[in-house]
Amino acid sequence: MMEYVCELKNISKRFHTINNETKAIEDISFKVEKGEIVSIVGPSGCGKSTVLSILAGLEKPSGGEVVVNTSNIGFMFQKDQLYEWRSILKNCILGLEIQHKDTEENVNKVLKMLKKYGLYNFRNYYPRQLSGGMRQKAALARTLAIEPELLLLDEPFSALDYQTRLSVGNEVGEILRKEKISTILVTHDIPEAVSISDRVILLTERPAKIKKEYIMEFSMCEGERTPMKCRNTTEFGGYFREIWRDLDVSGK
Ligand SMILES: Nc1ncnc2c1ncn2[C@@H]1O[C@H](COP(=O)(O)OP(=O)(O)O)[C@@H](O)[C@H]1O
Ligand SMILES: [Mg+2]
Repeated sequence: MMEYVCELKNISKRFHTINNETKAIEDISFKVEKGEIVSIVGPSGCGKSTVLSILAGLEKPSGGEVVVNTSNIGFMFQKDQLYEWRSILKNCILGLEIQHKDTEENVNKVLKMLKKYGLYNFRNYYPRQLSGGMRQKAALARTLAIEPELLLLDEPFSALDYQTRLSVGNEVGEILRKEKISTILVTHDIPEAVSISDRVILLTERPAKIKKEYIMEFSMCEGERTPMKCRNTTEFGGYFREIWRDLDVSGK
């Protein structure tokens, strides 16, 4: 039987301000399998972040049902949210500290992760001493330190310059797949979504509905699948064109 980490059933969301009502989401339903990487793409302002906030329990839906089969959720945003007065290592063990799980064993795991991300020699540095890409990797290390069963990423690479975004996106995509972390990635970067995900969900203009879903299968990927290998397949361009066409930014 298929195991799911979360499910949205007929979710809608309206925001109320003093003299206005914004309908952000209208009837969205989807499930995420354990270990699956799903991307959500759609026009700017359509309701993508709201979907993540509802899954994280930060916003209540106006209608529908949210099922999340874990309390261990990691959330990472566009801005890295590192604390400037804490060293990189201290930032990365913050979540463990809060959960009273900052044991020697767990701290050693974080140190190992920092080695893998090329941040070990910077563990005693402060965030301002690191580049944008390194900061974002540190933020990811902090998020993964609590070993989340569901990872929610809201445009995590969009503040990075193009080349850094490609390489960090590639490394992160590889890590998520190797460690089989169930992930929902919100991005406006279609090639990023195609290269990283198992499935891409395209939303309509606000109020967001699901316009279409795409399964990302790459037969040409030899050995372990990585975002960079996917970008070098013949299928890649086809997926990109299909989603780009359906996104229809021309508004016609
Ligand atoms: N807390 C809020 N209060 C009022 N309106 C909001 C709030 N959060 C989001 N919205 C509105 O809901 C719509 C969807 O926002 P959002 O989910 O952030 O879009 P996206 O992430 O796709 O760019 C926007 O029109 C936004 O202004
Ligand atoms: Mg957003």
